[in-house]
Amino acid sequence: MSIKEAFKGKRVFLTGHTGFKGAWLLLLLKELGAEVKGYSLAPKQDIDLYPSMGGDAYCESVIADIRDGARLEKEILDFQPDFVFHLAAQALVIDGYANPVETYETNVMGTIHVIQALRKLSKPCCSVLVTTDKVYENMETGEAYPEDARLGGYDPYSSSKACAEIAIGSFRNSFLHPDRYNDHQQSFASVRSGNVIGGGDWSANRLVPDIARALIKGDDIILRNPSATRPWQHVLDPLIGYLTLATNMTQDPVRFASAYNFGPEPEDERDVESMTKLAIDVWGNGRYQTPELKDQPHEAGQLNLAIDKAKRDLDWSPRFTSADAVKWTMDWYKDGREAPHDYTLKQIQTYLKYVA
Ligand SMILES: NC(=O)c1ccc[n+]([C@@H]2O[C@H](COP(=O)([O-])OP(=O)(O)OC[C@H]3O[C@@H](n4cnc5c(N)ncnc54)[C@H](O)[C@@H]3O)[C@@H](O)[C@H]2O)c1
Repeated sequence: MSIKEAFKGKRVFLTGHTGFKGAWLLLLLKELGAEVKGYSLAPKQDIDLYPSMGGDAYCESVIADIRDGARLEKEILDFQPDFVFHLAAQALVIDGYANPVETYETNVMGTIHVIQALRKLSKPCCSVLVTTDKVYENMETGEAYPEDARLGGYDPYSSSKACAEIAIGSFRNSFLHPDRYNDHQQSFASVRSGNVIGGGDWSANRLVPDIARALIKGDDIILRNPSATRPWQHVLDPLIGYLTLATNMTQDPVRFASAYNFGPEPEDERDVESMTKLAIDVWGNGRYQTPELKDQPHEAGQLNLAIDKAKRDLDWSPRFTSADAVKWTMDWYKDGREAPHDYTLKQIQTYLKYVA
């Protein structure tokens, strides 16, 4: 079955719909014909993609806290979803250092509340729970981590997501075991994607939004970690990966209920400085500085993700090179920010032409 068939007329509960990836996923799901109910905090700023694209017109939007387990359960059970995509999170490494307790409460307990609600749902439902590539104990050796690599996490954000992974495994074993699928009808997988870029992300302390803000204002771009290497990818690549996984789960809810990495081809990982040069080329002009910054919190210098499992099991692979991803992203910041809905939809429709 293709993703185009899998979501038509289906009920999808999406947490984090007001965030960057959530807003893209909302428009993508609407394009595929799904009915969406979102559950998140209010958007942080008017410029964010969700409010600027008029997101309320495309879903039933519940503005509430994922830490409120009773409210979340009520909203999920009222909606009776066919699919759940759980994206709501405190998603920034720097904010994790500033607010570690809230980061764990949101990322660990939020995930547990989603699964607790699923335990009460008495209909088949496939759920994709989003963590991150930062869940692996990163030795920074250049080794690309497969899904069974050891979990860890230096900083509170990474570690909270690794804790969420452990909780997902534990709740699957203890309460919703795949061997008893016919009794509970719940299938859930966790997904770990790389550093995602795309138009409409205006978060603070993220490379591409920082670049876009500087270029728009004509300021120099200040790079914190010019040599840090990341698995950069365009937002549509992992989102199509999540949808492909969920589609496969409807066909075989037992086999696909596990963890999947979604990232670029390993040889395509780039450092921050090279991404910045590509962005400046697409923009047409701009400058960057690499000042020596003191007392910066620890951020990994190198992070590599193995994507063989998604390629083999799901027949998924990234459509974009990192250079394509930068091109599509900077095109959005150049030409799309005056018409965020139309431009984002146009990019989604173009991408979908290549998807079976
Ligand atoms: N952006 C990336 O590069 C990247 C990479 C890997 C994984 N991820 C993961 O993907 C998911 C989405 O990331 P994003 O980039 O869209 O982040 P984002 O910060 O743009 O959006 C986060 C979303 O979570 C919601 N949220 C935060 N705290 C909440 C709470 N207490 N209750 C309810 N909702 C809450 C926000 O309202 C927002 O809708 C996150 O789980 C993140 O960890 C992101």
